[in-house]
Amino acid sequence: MTAKKPSDSLTVMTDIVLPGETNILKNLFGGELLARMDRAASIAAGRHSGGITVTASVNHVAFTQAVPLGSVVTVEAAVSRAFSTSMEVFIDVWIENRFTGKRSKANEGIYTFVALNEATGKPTPVPPLEPETELEKERFAAALRRKQLSLVLAGKMKPNEATELKALFMGD
Ligand SMILES: CC(C)(COP(=O)(O)OP(=O)(O)OC[C@H]1O[C@@H](n2cnc3c(N)ncnc32)[C@H](O)[C@@H]1OP(=O)(O)O)[C@@H](O)C(=O)NCCC(=O)NCCS
Repeated sequence: MTAKKPSDSLTVMTDIVLPGETNILKNLFGGELLARMDRAASIAAGRHSGGITVTASVNHVAFTQAVPLGSVVTVEAAVSRAFSTSMEVFIDVWIENRFTGKRSKANEGIYTFVALNEATGKPTPVPPLEPETELEKERFAAALRRKQLSLVLAGKMKPNEATELKALFMGD
């Protein structure tokens, strides 16, 4: 399969925060933001794999900044690493000041998607990913540790098999 770049899957979704989507503090409800992130990430995973994908895991989400009612929110998702049948998708969330146009990073998340064969519904191989920029290379390098952590937490990998993850804590 021909390798793809993160820019091939880049998905940008811009939307506004409406009253029905907020919590009692009039900030965007966390679950609504997760859904927006999942939609963008699903499109990115589909662009990379060229087929059907499902969300296998939400590996990390940081709600670092509240998103007030009326904000213009941009969700940017791109595949950060492809494994055999799974892909890590990195999602950056930006909010935009309507008056100055200045964007600030509000949030980020990392999801795992698995490509499925349309006929059998079983996991199917995805193209490799070749990172280009420094940030893409950093995200690519760390993705293996995140995959191992996610599999250990899901009870699908024994901690002593998570070699790269262990090296992070033990030096080698
Ligand atoms: C995701 C799903 C296809 C995985 O099925 P499975 O039987 O565990 O499949 P496998 O063990 O062959 O794993 C497939 C890939 O997913 C990866 N994977 C599975 N669970 C994972 C997890 N919790 N975290 C990270 N990766 C995971 C595996 O490592 C493997 O990756 P690789 O082939 O790139 O090495 C299956 O659990 C499923 O269909 N879940 C429902 C998905 C869904 O409906 N999502 C919508 C929200 S409800």
